[in-house]
This record gives sequence, structure tokens and C-alpha cells, in this order.
Amino acid sequence: MELIKIDVRTGRANLLRDKFELIALGITAETKKPAGLLGQVDKALGGQIAKLLALGDFKAKANSTAMLYANGSMPSERILLVGLGDEKKIDMETLRKAAAVCSKESVGVAAQKIAIDLTWCIDSKFDAHLLGQTLTEGLHFGAYKWDQYFSKPAEGAKEAKKFAALLIEPAKDAKQFAAGSKIGSVIGSAQNWGRTLANQPGNVVNPPVLAGIAKKMAGENKIKCTILDEKALAKKGFGGILAVGSGSASKPRLIILEYKGGAKNAKTVALVGKAITFDSGGISIKPSQGMEDMKLDKSGGVAVMATLRAIAQLDLPINVIGLIPSAENLPSSTSFRPGDIVKTYNGKTVEIQNTDAEGRMILCDAIALAAEKKVDAIVDIATLTGACMVALGRYKAGLMSNNDEFIKQLQDAAKVSGEAVWHLPSSDEYLDEMKSKIADLKNTGSRWGGASNAAAFLGQFAGEIPWAHIDMAGVDLFESPKSFSAIGSSGYGVRLLTAYVRSLCKK
Ligand code: BES
Ligand code: MN
Ligand code: ZN
Repeated sequence: MELIKIDVRTGRANLLRDKFELIALGITAETKKPAGLLGQVDKALGGQIAKLLALGDFKAKANSTAMLYANGSMPSERILLVGLGDEKKIDMETLRKAAAVCSKESVGVAAQKIAIDLTWCIDSKFDAHLLGQTLTEGLHFGAYKWDQYFSKPAEGAKEAKKFAALLIEPAKDAKQFAAGSKIGSVIGSAQNWGRTLANQPGNVVNPPVLAGIAKKMAGENKIKCTILDEKALAKKGFGGILAVGSGSASKPRLIILEYKGGAKNAKTVALVGKAITFDSGGISIKPSQGMEDMKLDKSGGVAVMATLRAIAQLDLPINVIGLIPSAENLPSSTSFRPGDIVKTYNGKTVEIQNTDAEGRMILCDAIALAAEKKVDAIVDIATLTGACMVALGRYKAGLMSNNDEFIKQLQDAAKVSGEAVWHLPSSDEYLDEMKSKIADLKNTGSRWGGASNAAAFLGQFAGEIPWAHIDMAGVDLFESPKSFSAIGSSGYGVRLLTAYVRSLCKK
């Protein structure tokens, strides 16, 4: 089956007279009686909304909806009420989620042409530009579903081939709102592109295939792409990437994406993303339960690829290098093994204690390459440790850095993007655990503080350059469908990294 096509535009409409397959209206939990626009719609519907509220059948909680039917009383057939929750608590994230809930619901009933006004009822205390961006990102996010491997639609299910939304502009600052929405569409569609890529199984996307996809994306977006294959990796001494990739017939790759939007002397940021196309654990094999989710172990690398796509399409005045080391971690007679000593790209040696701690072994090579290029800042993003997931659960990614200012910058980007981070330590005590008795480093520490141990290891390869690490294990996927999201890849990181890079451009 083909993936759904998503298109969001901004403009005006007469929601009482124009015909849509669905119109969606925001409603706050305080609403006792329909007034204003909602009052007019209620009148047309013969008091259905007033009844609904009076009976208390719909409380307009955040992430809740109620569908009403015009039955000929209005040209549009469906009226979707989208709960915004308590008015005082409404923030950008509430609105992004409400937009996502709204588009997911619309796609669920296969309504293709819809009109949306979620904010008619709230004070315009929000910046119109950011509001347009946020709502549009939410609409893209919620409309997404990954059904390309079904040979036919499920029995009785309606299939929405497209989602074309008219996002009603506010009376004030409509131009700003429209401009923000355009940015939201670029970021939202980059994120969904990444979700589709991250969702691909290991038998479809292996390191060479991922490199081919990167190359194609780069060509379409005026990004320079260099692929180092296993021979080039060997010649240049990328011992970490080669060790991890040694067990698979699909050989490892290092994908280098270069976007030059800034002047020659403009700042250069390196984004480094872990792309293990499947992580079985290797010789230190994982238990079979849940192992299928390890096809998503390429999510950090995919986030970097999708971010470069967004940055290029937004034409940002900055230079960004994307480094995506990619390998498949499998057990075989050619695999690396516990006890091996591996020489990494910057010459540091690592004793392998556990082949399942493979992410840091490919990232360290790529971070060392970024450091060699003397970039101004390095951010790496990876589904790195189960320990991070134990600490933070499925709602926030871990954030470590050698630089306090960097922590602040990424916390700000997290606020703007709605992709949350939580600061965790990576100080020298943790590094002590990563020192080997027979080599410079080892690839595991003690059980405790595993996310911080891994970060301390990675920090060794950034040298003096400001470096931040985002451990996105846990936030990479939705295990079950949510009111605002389909099951599968969350696309985490695309909005966060794009917001970070945009914040550098504003300075
Ligand atoms: N890809 C995993 C981490 C992971 C676990 C991501 C669960 C998402 C969900 C990583 O390669 C890994 O296996 N880490 C080990 C490290 C350990 C051996 C030090 C872990 O966390 O168990
Ligand atoms: Mn692993
Ligand atoms: Zn892994």
C-alpha cells in the first residue's frame, strides 16, 4: 500500500457555509455553553453541542475528541470537537498534540479535505509564527501512519490516501502564522520521512541500502554526500565501525552529509547519529523478547539524515555536517568478540567486554572524525542504553555534555520542539569506570549509571570541542498507538535538532 500524502495550507473559510469532509474545532474544558464560532455551529446542529456539554458526555480534556454529524444542517458532514483541556494549562505542546489528535482522527474516518480551527477560542498570547509552525508539525505528525507493507486495506477499513488540511489563520498576524506553517510543513514532512525510514525492517534497510537512501536524499536537496565503504573505512582506520560491522554480510558504511548554507567562515556544527540497522547484540546476544524493536537502532542516524533534509529545505544560513556510522550487529564466525582490542579512528584502543555495547564503538569513530575536522560543536544522538530508558522512561531523552551553555541551548530547543530532554551527568567518575587494565578504554562500565558511563566514553573522542550527547533509547518508538500517533517510530530528534540548528542561525 502507498503511504498517505499530507498537505497543510493556511487560509480562511466560512466554516458554516463552505463544504469540507470534516471541520475540527478546538474547545477548552471550561466551556459550559457553546459561544462564538462554536455557538454558531451548535445552532446549525440544532443544539447538539450544548446537549453534549450539558450532559457531561464530553469534557474537552486534552487529547480527547467528539464527533458530531451535520445530517444536512451544514454543508460539511462531520464536526470534530478537539479537547484542549484546562485553558490555563494550554501551551505549545498541548496545541501540537491537539493538532495531531485531530489529524489522526480525520485520517481514521478517511476524511481527506478538512478545515481546522483549534485556536479560535483561546487568547492570542502565543507568537503567531511559532503557533503556525507548531500546529502544522502536529498535523503532519498525527496524520502519519505506516501501512506500506499491508497487501490490502484491513477488512472494512476505509483507506485515506491523502490528508489535505486547511488550517484557519488567526485574525491577527495571519502572515506570520502562514510563514510559520510553511516551516512546520518542512519539518513535519522531514520527520515523517524519517519515521518511514526508521520503521523499515533489517531485511529491507541494511547499511549499504541506508547509504543509498542518504545519497538519493542528498542529491534531491543540494547536500554533498560521501559514502565510505568497508575498504575506505579500513584504509582510514575506522576500527570501531569495522569491528561492529564484521559479523554481517552487509558491510558497514560511514555516511557523510555536508550542507553548506553559511559563508566560508560561518560556524560548522557536526550532527552524529547512530545507525545500527539491526542490533542483535552480536556474540553477547540479546534475549529474543523484544529483539524485533532493534530494527529501530538506526533511529539516531535517521534523525540526523532527516534533520539535514529539513535544514537544506529551509535554506538555513549555517554549515552542518551529518556523520552517520552504520553497521549491522550480528553474531557469526566473523564477528568481533568479547576480549578483542579495537583501535579506533583517533588511535585510542578499546577492550571489548560486551558486543552489545556496539553503539559507542561506531559513534566514537564518527565523533573523532568530527573533532579532527575542528567543527565548532558536536551533537551525537543515539538509541544508546537500556539504562537511559530505565532512568527516564519513554517521555524524555537523556542529555549529557562537556559544556553547560550547550545543555542550555538544547534544553531551549527541546522546549520549542516539544521533544524533551533531561540533563544527566557524564563527569570523570563515570569515565574512571570505562578505563581498561589492558587498553586505553573498555566498552562497558558497571551496571549502575549505564547511560552516564556510555556518555563519558563518548566524550573522550570529542577532545576540547563543545559536545553534547542525546540518548534517545526509550523515546524512539510508540509501542502501542496513541491518540496523537500511529504505532512505530516517533521520529524523535528531527524537531529537536532542527530547532537547535535554527537557534544558532538566529544569533
Ligand atoms: N541499542 C541498545 C540500547 C537500547 C535498548 C535501545 C533498548 C533501545 C531500547 C544498545 O546497543 C545496547 O544494547 N546497550 C546495552 C549496553 C550494555 C551492554 C552496556 C544495554 O543498554 O543493555
Ligand atoms: Mn546493543
Ligand atoms: Zn544498539
